[in-house]
Amino acid sequence: MAAPAADATPRPLPRRHARYIAEAFLPGTLLGSRYHYYYAKAKLGSDPLYPGVCAALRGTTAPLLDLGCGLGLLAHALHADGNRLRYFGVDNDAGKIAAARRAAARSGLADAGFETLDLSRQLPPHRGSVAMLDVLQFFDPERQLAVVDAMAGMLEPGAKLVIRTGLDDGSRRARITRTTDHLARLLGWMNAAPRHYPDADALRARFEAAGLRSSFAPLSGNTPFNNWLIVATRD
Ligand SMILES: C[S@@+](CC[C@H](N)C(=O)[O-])C[C@H]1O[C@@H](n2cnc3c(N)ncnc32)[C@H](O)[C@@H]1O
Repeated sequence: MAAPAADATPRPLPRRHARYIAEAFLPGTLLGSRYHYYYAKAKLGSDPLYPGVCAALRGTTAPLLDLGCGLGLLAHALHADGNRLRYFGVDNDAGKIAAARRAAARSGLADAGFETLDLSRQLPPHRGSVAMLDVLQFFDPERQLAVVDAMAGMLEPGAKLVIRTGLDDGSRRARITRTTDHLARLLGWMNAAPRHYPDADALRARFEAAGLRSSFAPLSGNTPFNNWLIVATRD
């Protein structure tokens, strides 16, 4: 009998690794909020996002810009993966940026920096690799394309552009993704509601026009969402 095809989707981090990273987000005082700790532990332990992105960036040495970095979990995951590239994360949620800075300092991530920035208005100058994970849906279609073009312009040979995003493909998973993102806004987990999920062909065309080679692969793991990992490179 033929062996079953290998599952290409990476697994989330093992629970003990997720807990170890999350401990950097524990409050400094007994009565402080443990919200970020529990969020980080649950997210790292259930979503294949970070192992998928770490695998995509393995072997690269160019500095990484993480657009919409949230708590900066990617910086911790890369460090745990043995990737010591220089990391800079930006997000428009000042509370998350403050928590990201504290946790990175606690974990000794010497080469990680964070800044508050509204990406609907501006992008920081950068050359190297660039990531945008679960953020694209917060922009309208024109801004999405402008952001993707700007990300393509940051790429150097040997560096990678990495995006995880839901795609507008009419699937049941796409509907669940949209509903959950709206719910996250209603419950206050997210500071913005989703505006638009990109179309795969439109993104591919954009990469081609910028002279990049791109690959698209599902990255939902055991979650019910319609998440895709997009990796683009300049030869
Ligand atoms: C689903 S979270 C993803 C966080 C992080 N990329 C990760 O995967 O761990 C989406 C992030 O996008 C950020 N965001 C939304 N709109 C933004 C904007 N206009 N400028 C910068 N960040 C934004 C939110 O604050 C939030 O941290």
